[in-house]
Amino acid sequence: MSSRTIRISEPLLEEDDITLVLEALRSGWLSGGPYVEKFEEEFAKYIGVKHAITVANGTMALIAALYAAGVRPGDEVIVPCFTFAATAAAVVALGAKPVFADIELETYNISVEDVEEKLTRRARAIIAVHLFGHMADMKRLKRLAEEENIVLIEDAAQAHGSSLEGVKAGAWGDAAAFSFYATKNMTMGEGGAVTTSNDEIAWRVRMLRNHGQESKYNHVTFGLNMRITSLQAALGLAQLRKLERMNEARRRNARMLSEGLRDTGLILPVEKPGYRHVYHQYVVRVDPERVDITRDELARRLRERGVETAVHYPRALPDQPFYRALGYPPAEKICPNAAIAAQQVLSLPVHPKLTHEDIRYVIRAVREALGMEG
Ligand SMILES: Cc1ncc(COP(=O)(O)O)c(C=O)c1O
Repeated sequence: MSSRTIRISEPLLEEDDITLVLEALRSGWLSGGPYVEKFEEEFAKYIGVKHAITVANGTMALIAALYAAGVRPGDEVIVPCFTFAATAAAVVALGAKPVFADIELETYNISVEDVEEKLTRRARAIIAVHLFGHMADMKRLKRLAEEENIVLIEDAAQAHGSSLEGVKAGAWGDAAAFSFYATKNMTMGEGGAVTTSNDEIAWRVRMLRNHGQESKYNHVTFGLNMRITSLQAALGLAQLRKLERMNEARRRNARMLSEGLRDTGLILPVEKPGYRHVYHQYVVRVDPERVDITRDELARRLRERGVETAVHYPRALPDQPFYRALGYPPAEKICPNAAIAAQQVLSLPVHPKLTHEDIRYVIRAVREALGMEG
């Protein structure tokens, strides 16, 4: 057993984060107020949209975006088979029906061809997840959504600062959902935001977030409480101001990993031309035709050497007990690529707190675990 542990994810919290949170606390603003407004203004500007509306977390951001864009009970919403559970749960929460589309194995993102296959007259929306920090093919998805007259929502929970042809994730769809959970590219501990340039969607999200109140005790729409605190907003502001630095550190770590693991037989992540990958996760694929040991054995050997790994995600969503109980067929049948990914993916540490030496250690550990010289 190794005495050191390299963690799979760690938030980068520095003096500026602490200073701004303390400043917010000392200001007496605990709920809404200037920190929330400032964060929303700066985040909208950074993403390149008219509106950013903070909400309690990424799951609420998805629910709010779908609801505000008009998804209602009985509607079908196309979602990728291979994503975090919240993407599809948000659809279920609205009484709508997730329709699972397969992924491309190259980027792990939704396959546009399979979306076309799975579209029916009842389809109201598509959720494009930018998984692991690489954007989905938004140019084709946007064209398709326009042709079919359906809503396009981005799940950008893992893609703060990711872009395609210079346009950021969060600025492509009718609306987008971000998460600021502790492990994300930037964090508030817990938190979320909807971004959109559509004034009507923005208004509906604002109403939904705050009891449907247009003014105090004047409830003009359905609404709940999805607000964040000033302390979360202050942390978000400090994190946003160093997001580029943190993303560059992730990209540098990913470049080093890819260079050091080039000849191992592992299938490495790609950054397609025109895209900017922000490596929320650095995900390799352990294909039994190319590597002698299994994904789980590789993970075990890395753990022995003090390198934490994770499997994002061990099951395609249709294979989760919840969806099986609802009668969805197995992933193998409806999204075979997602079923393969679930068996073969392994996330290696790439977060911005890692030093060059840490990354060199990870590379050495992977090579040893695969039976190669260090
Ligand atoms: C792809 C994706 N969608 C949605 C979410 C939900 O975000 P949250 O945990 O903030 O509710 C997450 C993160 O957890 C995610 O990774």
